[in-house]
Amino acid sequence: MRFKAPRGTRDLLPEDIWKWQHVERVFRETADRFGYREIRVPIFEETDLFARGIGDSTDIVRKEMYTFEDRKGRSLTLRPEGTAGVVRSYIEHNMGRNARVTKLHYYGPMFRYERPQAGRYRQFWQWGLEAIGSASPAIDAEIIHFSVSLHERLGIAGTEARINSAGCAACTPAYNELLRSELQPRLDEFCDDCHVRFEKNPRRMFDCKRKSCLAILKEAPSIHASLCDECRGHFERAKEHLTKMSVNFVVDETQARGLDYYTKTIFEIHHTGLGAQSALCGGGRYDDLVRELGGDPTPACGVSGGVGRLIMALESDGAFPEGAPGPDVYMVCLGEAAQLAKAAMIAVLRGSHTVETDYQDRSLKAQMREAGKLGARFAVIVGEDELARGVAIVRDMAAGEQQEMSLDGVVAYLEDRLGATKEEQR
Ligand code: HAM
Repeated sequence: MRFKAPRGTRDLLPEDIWKWQHVERVFRETADRFGYREIRVPIFEETDLFARGIGDSTDIVRKEMYTFEDRKGRSLTLRPEGTAGVVRSYIEHNMGRNARVTKLHYYGPMFRYERPQAGRYRQFWQWGLEAIGSASPAIDAEIIHFSVSLHERLGIAGTEARINSAGCAACTPAYNELLRSELQPRLDEFCDDCHVRFEKNPRRMFDCKRKSCLAILKEAPSIHASLCDECRGHFERAKEHLTKMSVNFVVDETQARGLDYYTKTIFEIHHTGLGAQSALCGGGRYDDLVRELGGDPTPACGVSGGVGRLIMALESDGAFPEGAPGPDVYMVCLGEAAQLAKAAMIAVLRGSHTVETDYQDRSLKAQMREAGKLGARFAVIVGEDELARGVAIVRDMAAGEQQEMSLDGVVAYLEDRLGATKEEQR
C-alpha cells in the first residue's frame, strides 16, 4: 500500500520552497512598510464563527468547510479564510480599547473542499491584511494600493484591479427585491443551487459557476442604481484616493465576492495569464462583521490572496529573480584522515556560512559534480596527499580558478572572500 497526499493538497518540496520563502519575505516586508503587524490565530475555530461570519448562504459555508467534532462533541472547522478568526481575536483581546486603527497581517494555510484544478486547492496558502477601526475610504484605497504594490514589488506584470461597491445594510434590501423581481420570470431556467440562493440571498446567485445561470445574470441590474448616497459617496472618495495614489483600476459593476460580510468597497486583482482561476487576491470593506460576531460596531476593511496563484503568476511571467541560492562552500574530502580535518573546518565555517559536504565516501569526481549541481560558490578539496602536505585546494566555482593554500589559512581566506561577495550583493 502506498499513501498519497490527500486530493487537493500538495507537498511543497525542498527544490521549490525558495519560491514560497521569497514571496513570504516580500509580503512581510511590504506589510511592515504599510504598518501592519503580524497576528497568528488558530487553524481551527468553532464552526459557528464561520457560519455567522462568512454567511450560511455562501458556497464556502454550505459546501466547502472541513467540519469535525472533537472528543467532547464540539463542532470545529478548519479555517476556510482568515478574516473571521482575526476579527474573533480582535474582539476577544479587546484590541479596539485604545480607539486606534488596528492593522494586522497574517499568512498561512486555509482549507476549502472545492473541486481541485490548476490554481485551486483544498489546502492553500493565503497572505492577508485586516484594518479594523476606520470607516475612511482612505483605508480601502490603502489596502488596494498594498495589493497592487505587493504584486509590483514581486515583479508580476499583467494585473488588473477591479473594484465595485457591495452596498450596505441600508441599500441592499431594496437591491435584493429588485433582483428578485427581475429574475423571477426566468427562475425556472436556473439551477437548484440558485433557487436556494434566490430565497436566502439573491446576490449569491452571482457566485454560480454554471454558464447557463451566468448568461441570464448578465442581464440582471447592477447594484449601482440602488446604492444609497452614503455608499455612492464612499465609493467616489475611494476612487479619488486611488487616482491620487496612481493606482490603476477598472470599475466592474458585476463583481460579487463569495463571502457575505462585505459592505461598500469590494475589489479583486486578476492576472491575465492565469486562466480560469485568475484572482490573485480579493477583499473589501466589512463594516458590520465585528458587531455581528459580538463586538462593538466597528468598521473594517481587508484583503487576502492566494500564495500558490502568485507563484503561478511569477512563473508565467518568468519573474523569479534567481534560482535557489547554492551553499557558500562545498567540502570535498577523500580518506578517513581528511574527513576529520574537514569536520574541524566545517564546524568553524558554519558559524557564518552555508556549507555542504559528502557523507557517502564518493569519488572526487562525484563530489565535484555535486558541488557544481548545488551551485556552490567555492569547493575546498582535501585528499590524503594534500593532508600530508598540510594544504587544501580552494576552487572558485564560478570563475573556474583554483589555488593551493595552507590548511590553516583556508577558513580565513573563505571568510574574507565570502564576506566580500556578500557586500557586493548588497
Ligand atoms: P477569497 O476571495 O475567498 O477572500 O480568497 C482570497 C484569495 O484566496 C483568492 O483571490 C485566491 O487567490 C485565493 N484562494 C481562494 N480559494 C482558493 C483555493 N481553493 N485554492 C487556491 N487559492 C484560493 C477571502 O478569503 C477573504 N477573507 C478576503 C478578505 C480579507 N476580505 C476582507 N479581508
